[in-house]
Amino acid sequence: MTPEPLTGEGADENWWRQAVVYQVYPRSFVDSDGDGLGDLRGIIARVPYLSSLGVDAIWLSPFYPSALADGGYDVDHYREVDPRLGTLDDFDDLVRALHGAGIRIFVDIVPNHSSNRHEWFQAALAAAPGSPERDRYHFRDGRGEHGELPPNDWPSHFGPSAWTRTTNPDGTPGQWYLHLFAPEQPDFNWDNQEVHDDFLHTLRFWSDRGVDGFRVDVAHALKKDMSEPYSPVPSIGIMSDYPIDGSHPLFDRDDVYEVYRAWRAVFDEYDPPRVAVAEATVPVERRVNYATRDTLGQAFNFDLLGTPWRASAFRATISHSLELAQSTGSSSTWTLSNHDIIRHASRYGLPEGTDLERWLLSNGTEPQGDAALGLRRARAATMLLLALPGSVYLYQGEELGLPEVADLPTEAIQDPIWIRDGGARKGRDGCRVPLPWHHDAPSFGFTTGTPHLPMPAWFADYAADLQHGVEGSTLELYRSALRTRRRLQTAETLTWVELGDDAVAFTRDNGWLCIMNVGSTPMTLPEGELVLASEAVTDGVLPGDSTAWLRARP
Ligand code: NOJ
Repeated sequence: MTPEPLTGEGADENWWRQAVVYQVYPRSFVDSDGDGLGDLRGIIARVPYLSSLGVDAIWLSPFYPSALADGGYDVDHYREVDPRLGTLDDFDDLVRALHGAGIRIFVDIVPNHSSNRHEWFQAALAAAPGSPERDRYHFRDGRGEHGELPPNDWPSHFGPSAWTRTTNPDGTPGQWYLHLFAPEQPDFNWDNQEVHDDFLHTLRFWSDRGVDGFRVDVAHALKKDMSEPYSPVPSIGIMSDYPIDGSHPLFDRDDVYEVYRAWRAVFDEYDPPRVAVAEATVPVERRVNYATRDTLGQAFNFDLLGTPWRASAFRATISHSLELAQSTGSSSTWTLSNHDIIRHASRYGLPEGTDLERWLLSNGTEPQGDAALGLRRARAATMLLLALPGSVYLYQGEELGLPEVADLPTEAIQDPIWIRDGGARKGRDGCRVPLPWHHDAPSFGFTTGTPHLPMPAWFADYAADLQHGVEGSTLELYRSALRTRRRLQTAETLTWVELGDDAVAFTRDNGWLCIMNVGSTPMTLPEGELVLASEAVTDGVLPGDSTAWLRARP
């Protein structure tokens, strides 16, 4: 069979609508040169692995030059590769290797902020207040007699203040600049034309190199109301506090969509058009605005992360997500894990209502959690997602059933949240620990050097080599599920099937039936050919906390 062309004539413009996209967090994937940081050559070496997993695309988290003040989301240069991760030639080789294997690539674009080492920010620091260089960011005079107080009390996501004071070239204290994240991540001023133009340049730069899509970081925060008197921002990151009328001074303002209309024009210069997915943590009613045909096209849907393990809750979240996506002609996205959240194999092993920050602070001991139940539910939930209409975003390592490393020693923590918040939050490093490839190799085959985050001894049990070819392993379950999904994929609709209070059950229009049993009581499966199950099915009985796929018998 001739593989479908990925670009040019005959390429499918809608490939993204039901794609399985695998997130590669490059510094923790595979290290090819022994410096302890994963790199592009490492990813190239694992293209056969990605291919045998059966993913349609990868999403590559930032690989740009960076001081890693925020895991690479502090970008020094948007059109370069971090020399520790490789070169532009390596990047081109990666695209070639992926495309050769029929796998597309999304890259991460970080438009809300640069790093403080970016040449524009350095130029701004060297320039005078009111200069064009400073206008690319948000510089303001401080309050107080000597400007010693920040311009306002806006908080940063990583705590505490969103403002940092600069030092003038002559050593005297200077203006303040805005950073919604770490001080090393100054926010761009998106009312500045040069900022606009530079990002269009960046989108073309990567698109010309064959990139198929973009994941847009903090897509909702670009436009800001910086007029005085400043509007109050009592909390940050708590979506339920956001207004849904575009009136928040920092998030989801109506004019942010203008930015993406201009980006869409760039995407449409290519054949097939480049695609994008917005990371927009906004109230769900507003999420659709990022996912229209004339903006970014698709948006992350994190609603399942907060969905309790109850059939009615899953059904409600799924129905609502599908309706929202359909209202703009987009397709829904589904995700259970990424580099910012506690891995779902651990979350699902914790009692409902567990305070996850406190759990991490207790090194994963309070409460202890049930690892077996967590993995079992994680496998079930993943199979549910993979049967839904829409696209699924997987996070590296979940195919191995990796749990969170909740007990990382505090001296190893890199996440700025830990420092900025004075130890009140441990941050996200526990899901960013490098992957175990070989159970008996030094650093489990991730690196010949010292991994940039310590890998616990128990990672050996999850190593890819121990799962390869082993029936029932999580890796083989993912492989089978992705292969089967590809074969059964069909129109973007579902019909709910009523099978009792504990069942999340639906069919697709070709008779593909998915049943997740969220209860602990085994459930007798209806008539049909069993195609795949997350746990062993005996005599037509689906055990608790598991999922089965069936097909109507002809
Ligand atoms: C969202 C990214 O996923 C996260 O890792 C990062 O810290 C913030 N945006 C800031 O760029």
